[in-house]
Amino acid sequence: MDKNNIKEIAQQFAFEGTILDITPLGEGFINDTYTVTTEGDAPNYILQRKNHHVFPDVPAMMDNIARVTAHLRRKVEAQGGDPKREVITLIYTHDDRLYHYDGENYWAAMLLIEDAVTHAVADTPHLAYMGGRGIGRFQTMLADFDEPLVEVIKGFHNIRWRFEQWDKALGEDKAGRKAQLSKEIAWIESRRAKMLDFWMMVEDGRLPRRVTHNDTKLSNILFDRRGEVLCVIDLDTVMLSTSLNDFGDAIRSYTNTGAEDDKNLDNVSMSMELFCSYAEGYLAERGASLTPTEREWLAFSALYITYEQTLRFLMDYIDGDSYYKIAYPDHNLVRTHAQYRLLQSMEDQYEAMKAVCIEANK
Ligand SMILES: Nc1ncnc2c1ncn2[C@@H]1O[C@H](COP(=O)(O)OP(=O)(O)O)[C@@H](O)[C@H]1O
Ligand SMILES: [Mg+2]
Repeated sequence: MDKNNIKEIAQQFAFEGTILDITPLGEGFINDTYTVTTEGDAPNYILQRKNHHVFPDVPAMMDNIARVTAHLRRKVEAQGGDPKREVITLIYTHDDRLYHYDGENYWAAMLLIEDAVTHAVADTPHLAYMGGRGIGRFQTMLADFDEPLVEVIKGFHNIRWRFEQWDKALGEDKAGRKAQLSKEIAWIESRRAKMLDFWMMVEDGRLPRRVTHNDTKLSNILFDRRGEVLCVIDLDTVMLSTSLNDFGDAIRSYTNTGAEDDKNLDNVSMSMELFCSYAEGYLAERGASLTPTEREWLAFSALYITYEQTLRFLMDYIDGDSYYKIAYPDHNLVRTHAQYRLLQSMEDQYEAMKAVCIEANK
């Protein structure tokens, strides 16, 4: 984006100090992120162009973030922490809105948290443990949040909704691939009832709906120089659902010993070591605020989320590859097989996973 245009956008926000420079910050996948540096002692800022293809209702999304960060701020202050570093601070525009619309894109701004460290991948047990701590702490601080939040992505991790799409995809068989996929379709169908049973516990309240982050990758946690968790960022996807989903999704992405599209299925498995590390970190922060039912089903959430992802890859293949970007014709089928292998590995280790989730940090 042009320097002058971006400066004009930055000037819509109520920043302190005079803007010195605006530079793009790599890393992010969804939004375009810039660092805004100011003169002298004034704080520096983050300016983000929000991806409104992914998020159709940016104003509602910003309202969600405002509610969640206000709650977190009260907790941090009550605990004597530093509210400028331990929670995201949104910056309003001069006309008191949480976003600026430039006629084409939505923009939002927040304080830059200085000297923060991020990690791209959780490739050591220690980082997995710290990632678990980060999300666990986030959830615990939000365990008593009781405000409404807008569902920014419809049906997220709702398997009943996925099955509606799935049944439709099978019925239409758009790419004419269904006939060759009886084995893979059976993988999905044979587990349908079990997965619906899990989701029913969310629907009927046995598993409470709480604030979920929904993008728990390690790079969304800021650490300080000593390696302690500062805060969780990237709150675009906060919604109300079972917080077990955050755990399950983290396990799915942290613990795979292979690649998501590994052609060699022997590479793919769930690392029990990384699972234990993540679970221990998570439960160290979150154990005391989980209900007994949440604890009992915590390990299952990893299977649930991995199953859902297997279904989504296969469904996209059946649909003719309209959702996930593919690098070669059978890419989504390769992903389906690799994700299914991960699911099998979790199923094989399920009893041990469950024992860890029930016993750790009691
Ligand atoms: N308030 C902040 N303070 C410091 N760094 C930040 C802040 N917000 C974002 N970042 C940095 O920018 C990167 C991208 O921001 P993020 O909100 O995660 O966007 P995306 O949705 O594109 O991943 C983060 O990984 C982090 O390194
Ligand atoms: Mg991010």
